Amino acid sequence: MRIAISTGGGDAPGLNAVIRAAVLAAIHRGWECVGIRRGFGGLLGDGEVVPLGPSEVRGITHLGGTILGTTNRGDPFRWRAQRPDGTWSERDRSDELVAAFRSHGLDALIAIGGEGTLGIALRLMGKGIPVVGVPKTIDNDVGGTVATFGFDTAVATATDAIDKVHSTAESHERVMVVEVMGRHAGFIALNAGLAASADVILIPEIPFDIAKVCDKIRQREAAGRHFSIVVVAEGAVPKGGTVSLIDPEHERLGGIGDKVAHSIQEMTGKETRSLVLGHLQRGGSPTTFDRLLGLRFGAAAVRLVGEHKFGYMVALQPPQIAAVPLEQALATPRRVPLDSDTIATARDLGTSLGD
Ligand code: F6P
Repeated sequence: MRIAISTGGGDAPGLNAVIRAAVLAAIHRGWECVGIRRGFGGLLGDGEVVPLGPSEVRGITHLGGTILGTTNRGDPFRWRAQRPDGTWSERDRSDELVAAFRSHGLDALIAIGGEGTLGIALRLMGKGIPVVGVPKTIDNDVGGTVATFGFDTAVATATDAIDKVHSTAESHERVMVVEVMGRHAGFIALNAGLAASADVILIPEIPFDIAKVCDKIRQREAAGRHFSIVVVAEGAVPKGGTVSLIDPEHERLGGIGDKVAHSIQEMTGKETRSLVLGHLQRGGSPTTFDRLLGLRFGAAAVRLVGEHKFGYMVALQPPQIAAVPLEQALATPRRVPLDSDTIATARDLGTSLGD
């Protein structure tokens, strides 16, 4: 067996743990591994398929990022190239990719990625590439698995940052708005917001009413609490509104924290500041939980290759690592369940969810 490993989409702490476990598990079976650099793109470039052996994966479990590099602009079915005049062209290079996969003598592909990358992997499966998926994203929004690696680390980073914002908010008697990642799912905002005692948490799953947010701040003011912390997911939307985009062409989210801060200052008269945690949440050393999940996912992916269970994705279904059909996982993306005990806990603590 000659297995290719690729990491695609936004990076997440724990990717290197997956790579290490997959490589060592493959070698343990007497198989060979190669890494595709920069998502799937490495199969379409020169010298970008690299051998992966014990020395390449030594001492990487605790490292953030991915030793293979990644991109979220590398869809072979819609390959984008910039023309000399700065405009972009798009073409389907998937057949070329399949041909390159064959010419490298590869037998299976372990694709580590989020919704986008796993969707591409499924389409490549349709073109004859035997694929096993590994779900990754700090947003925790992939279906079929209780958790993706990277999420726990991102929540720890966001919690730490919100903790730090507390003291300056209190000293200056200000409202501080912290924008965290979470495109479609508010898991980071909800978990970090709760753990760091935010007063208001706004998530994509619950469209917010800015008047309710301001009510909460005024109530605190009346109770002698002259500062407030608002945590907002980048994908949060006002009731009847749309998501805030900083780059509509590439659908890059951003700006909702600023907008919320501006409205709060205008409507309550309280001095308000906002900050965006952004890619900080994607970096750093993975937590113990994410390292272990990454290692378990990587080894389990190789076991699926051994069983010829292609078209499946490894998934955490405690206490087991299960195999879930990619199609099924992609059809049911994960969102914060509104009837979850975490939401009930937030409400019981008096945290405003903006509704
Ligand atoms: O999906 C993970 C994520 O971090 C999202 O929360 C965010 O919208 C996106 O990636 C940002 O990606 P980038 O800035 O790398 O294009």
